[in-house]
Amino acid sequence: MADQLKNSLPKKPLLEIAGLTRHFGGLTAVNGLSLTVGQGELVSVIGPNGAGKTTLFNLISGLDAPDAGSVTFEGRDVTGLSAERLAALGLARSFQHGRVFGNLSVLDNVLVGAHTRLRAVKPRIPLVGPLVELALALIRPPSVRAEEERLRAEAKEIVRMFGERLTPRLDKPAHSLSYANRRRVEIARALALHPRLLLLDEPTAGMNPTETAEMLEIIRGLKARGLTILLIEHKLDLVMQLSDRVVVMDHGARIAEGLPAAVASDPAVIEAYLGHKAVGAANQDTGQDTGQDGDAAVPVRIAH
Ligand SMILES: Nc1ncnc2c1ncn2[C@@H]1O[C@H](COP(=O)(O)OP(=O)(O)OP(=O)(O)O)[C@@H](O)[C@H]1O
Ligand SMILES: [Mg+2]
Repeated sequence: MADQLKNSLPKKPLLEIAGLTRHFGGLTAVNGLSLTVGQGELVSVIGPNGAGKTTLFNLISGLDAPDAGSVTFEGRDVTGLSAERLAALGLARSFQHGRVFGNLSVLDNVLVGAHTRLRAVKPRIPLVGPLVELALALIRPPSVRAEEERLRAEAKEIVRMFGERLTPRLDKPAHSLSYANRRRVEIARALALHPRLLLLDEPTAGMNPTETAEMLEIIRGLKARGLTILLIEHKLDLVMQLSDRVVVMDHGARIAEGLPAAVASDPAVIEAYLGHKAVGAANQDTGQDTGQDGDAAVPVRIAH
């Protein structure tokens, strides 16, 4: 009883989106969307291809600016802030099509995340600041070397979360990795930022069932550690297992929201999927994406 009460109490909001709208010419990709994510919550955003999910992430993470509406992060209006500023505030994301620095090693890719964080907390000294940094980089005094070592150790620790997938490849250039491993590197880099909010855009796209199950456990682990996560995912079994709440988008708007089981049996949701003919028979057996890059149809399991 006490537990039930505790679970039903509203959690302190970390992210609040109100009336968010983005037009591309005559198309409204995100249409007056409102959404709240509480501290420590895992909220999934699902919806047919083209529903506006990635556009929503772009608006939240500062890659794109809304035509209307607001984004509030930890009580602060962050609408229209740059991606860099938002990263400094603790907002990290991965991309649907994977974005890594191809010529950098796995370790260096992850270190980019850590450096972004450090740059954000260091006081900026105009003019002489860059010179001081250059001098420190050239001379490498013990304090700088110790700091570097600490960051490398931390980056390796993050990489270890992915088991043996990345650790043996720490020094390999990211372009030589499989698609699935590049997705893992990207998530590791986002984690090195020590995010307060992690946005994951189809983290299992292009992954086979074993790899998908591994990713599910990793996300579950992050959630257990209290990380707040907003997840876009087409694989609904994963969504059902991980989410505290599910938001369903169609044509840029929210058409349903609630506990995973309730949303899965919502007639409006079933209609949205069936109406879009996004229910591919090819996906029915495996629940796997058919596309290389995650632009797959949605498995039918939602329409029990
Ligand atoms: N930069 C852009 N310029 C023009 N149209 C765009 C742009 N970005 C997205 N769109 C359009 O906005 C709509 C929503 O796209 P979005 O990528 O957000 O959908 P999605 O829900 O992420 O789809 P998917 O599940 O296929 O990844 C689509 O019709 C898309 O073609
Ligand atoms: Mg998308």
